[in-house]
Amino acid sequence: MTTDRAVFRAPKGTRDVLPPESGRWQEVVTRFADRAARFGYGMIMTPIFEHYEVFARIGTTTDVVSKEMYDFVDKGERRLALRPEGTAGVVRSYVEHRPVATPWKTWYVAPNFRYERPQEGRYRQHWQLGAEAIGSDDTDVDVEMIDLLAGFYRSLGLQHVKLCINSMGDPASRAAYRDVLLNYWRDHRELLAGEMERAEANPLRILDSKTPAWQPMIDAAPQLGDYLNEESTEQFASVRRGLTAIGIDYEIAPRLVRGFDYYTATVFEFQGMALGGAQNALGGGGRYDRLSEEMGGPPAPAIGFGSGIERLLLACDAEAVIPVATSRADVFVVDALDNGDAAVLLHELREAGLRADRSFGTRAVKKQWAAANKAGARFAIMLAEREAAAGVVAIKDLASGEQREVARGDIANVVHTQINAIQPTATTLSTKGTSS
Ligand code: HAM
Repeated sequence: MTTDRAVFRAPKGTRDVLPPESGRWQEVVTRFADRAARFGYGMIMTPIFEHYEVFARIGTTTDVVSKEMYDFVDKGERRLALRPEGTAGVVRSYVEHRPVATPWKTWYVAPNFRYERPQEGRYRQHWQLGAEAIGSDDTDVDVEMIDLLAGFYRSLGLQHVKLCINSMGDPASRAAYRDVLLNYWRDHRELLAGEMERAEANPLRILDSKTPAWQPMIDAAPQLGDYLNEESTEQFASVRRGLTAIGIDYEIAPRLVRGFDYYTATVFEFQGMALGGAQNALGGGGRYDRLSEEMGGPPAPAIGFGSGIERLLLACDAEAVIPVATSRADVFVVDALDNGDAAVLLHELREAGLRADRSFGTRAVKKQWAAANKAGARFAIMLAEREAAAGVVAIKDLASGEQREVARGDIANVVHTQINAIQPTATTLSTKGTSS
């Protein structure tokens, strides 16, 4: 049969996340939320769109703003943009509400939109787990921020993760470096050709370029670390001492400047060594000590990070941790009675905290057993004539094949006890990996 009706598909660069895969998302978000709470961070939700100017503060010379923003004019003639990253909205919120806590510590899970060329690990809509601490320049906050993210990766069971750190210096150090770097780019103006204008506007942006022909030139460029003044050098040393004190390994990456204009002082990136190629940045962040003032707010030194969930799960695949849960039910009810008791029993099981399910639309017992297996249930409860007459139900352990009879009134308690003996919290997903 032919039809001329078009089949709709998700837009290019976006993806649906369906069960059971979505169970892994729940798992990573829950672990992140738990860890962030342990560090004193509260959840924040900011709008998915903001005034264009809020995001333009990320840096007009960055690709994210100049080429990749999903901006539009709404029906009230306002220029708005979909969030391309989390920090700008959080700082806008800080400036608007002026919370008193110093620092103000928040975490988020949110989708971001960038008009990029889609490929594995790079999407037009991606999700980030992130955290921001606004209002302190204490380097212990830098260390705490890195610790939060490092321990989160560890809690997922990821082992092949490398931390790279660098310092962007204070404004005086950066200004000195920018002059030197700009002169260096001017010496290479022929190779830079059309991008010379961008180099003039912000010489640092050329350092993030992935253009293969430029790599030797970029590799030989002057390094920011050589231009840090005494204060910036001490600031960076203090962060490194703090990391060492809590046993966090790092590598100094002199070329790491990160892709946004707001960064100052400490910058860091976690690379997933099991991920191949260009998309190996699992998460990254740094200080943005001036952004509040640039948005019309008070002086408020700050630091934060964002970590892409899609990429994180690719790293989990590569290291075989946080597997897709194979079970979506603890117990499955097989109903040969069809007298309404199945619905009552399911209600009891669920109220007892168990994941319980059944088939719908079939009375064929064989099909119901097949559905029980497919759901990955550990136990099946059989509702049948003979047992019902005796006031009992048959319960079968689908792993061992063992079957026994239990009084109908006791069944929810019995299954609950057995499930908890197998896995301490019946309602948690079955996953590998360590907890932290
Ligand atoms: P970012 O490095 O642009 O930083 O993004 C953070 C993470 O989001 C990346 O390391 C990567 O895992 C993921 N990511 C970015 N773009 C994509 C994409 N197109 N597809 C899939 N994943 C992606 C920020 O966004 C800053 N707001 C981080 C920050 C917070 N700095 C200070 N506070």
